[in-house]
Amino acid sequence: MPSIEENVYKWNEDYSWQSGGEPWSAPWGSSSAQWYGCIYPRIQRFLPAPTILEIAPGFGRWTEFLLSHCDTLIGVDVAPKCVEACTERFAGHPGASFFTNDGHNLPMVADSSVDFAFSFDSLVHVEVETLAGYLRELARVLTPDGAGFLHHSNYGTYRRSANALAPLQGAFDHLPTVARAGLLRTGAYRGAHWRASSVTAAGFVDLCEAAGLRCVGQELVNWEGGLLLIDAMSVVTRPGSRWDRPNRVVKNRLFRTEARAIRRSAAVYDAPSAPST
Ligand SMILES: C[S@@+](CC[C@H](N)C(=O)[O-])C[C@H]1O[C@@H](n2cnc3c(N)ncnc32)[C@H](O)[C@@H]1O
Repeated sequence: MPSIEENVYKWNEDYSWQSGGEPWSAPWGSSSAQWYGCIYPRIQRFLPAPTILEIAPGFGRWTEFLLSHCDTLIGVDVAPKCVEACTERFAGHPGASFFTNDGHNLPMVADSSVDFAFSFDSLVHVEVETLAGYLRELARVLTPDGAGFLHHSNYGTYRRSANALAPLQGAFDHLPTVARAGLLRTGAYRGAHWRASSVTAAGFVDLCEAAGLRCVGQELVNWEGGLLLIDAMSVVTRPGSRWDRPNRVVKNRLFRTEARAIRRSAAVYDAPSAPST
């Protein structure tokens, strides 16, 4: 868990997509503040990129920003509802196209055609076999100097506690939003945010090797409500590319503290309609 089928159900049927996922950016203040304060600084050296592949764009929270850094953007999501939403939202961008896929293959993407592959706040919900599928496909579709930035789970590092918490997580997920927020706020329940429990940052490196890719950087971070480094952002590339080097791993337990700092200053500079903190 979570399986591809559960992801399709959750994102195509269950989740309301009110505000297109914007509430997930609340810890940073807004999606704009999160992009410019958190995501863009981590990926700026790969941009601009002629062709960007975005895996799992949802309703386009990051697509909006990625589009100004490429000529062509291909968005691939397992939920048809998300593909429809992005197709409509970005209809004015002739270089943007969106496709539904089976959750781990990229048949709509040509060999050696992608300069930069991006995924944030999505692949944390996919298990190891799904990641392995995408990495095999990236080995096929990346250009010789292409690179990828993939945000994925590291929850498997805490597998024993993950297994113990699994029944609790199921009950937690069915609580009303207000109750869930209350439990997280009080610290009574830390929550795993539906992270995949089979994935670890170290295992991800092995998956890259098996797929014929190199993992050259990993930042292990905490997420809302805890100090555990349940997530990782990994940079992948082809062996011998201009980005190739031995892997560098950094543990960042200040990720959520950074978010709070970004939110505080963004309140000064954000659009008039953005909430102040
Ligand atoms: C939490 S939403 C995040 C969407 C977007 N990345 C954002 O941050 O706003 C998760 C997205 O991942 C997609 N997804 C989940 N598993 C997937 C898979 N195996 N392949 C492609 N998309 C997937 C869902 O359909 C959904 O659009």
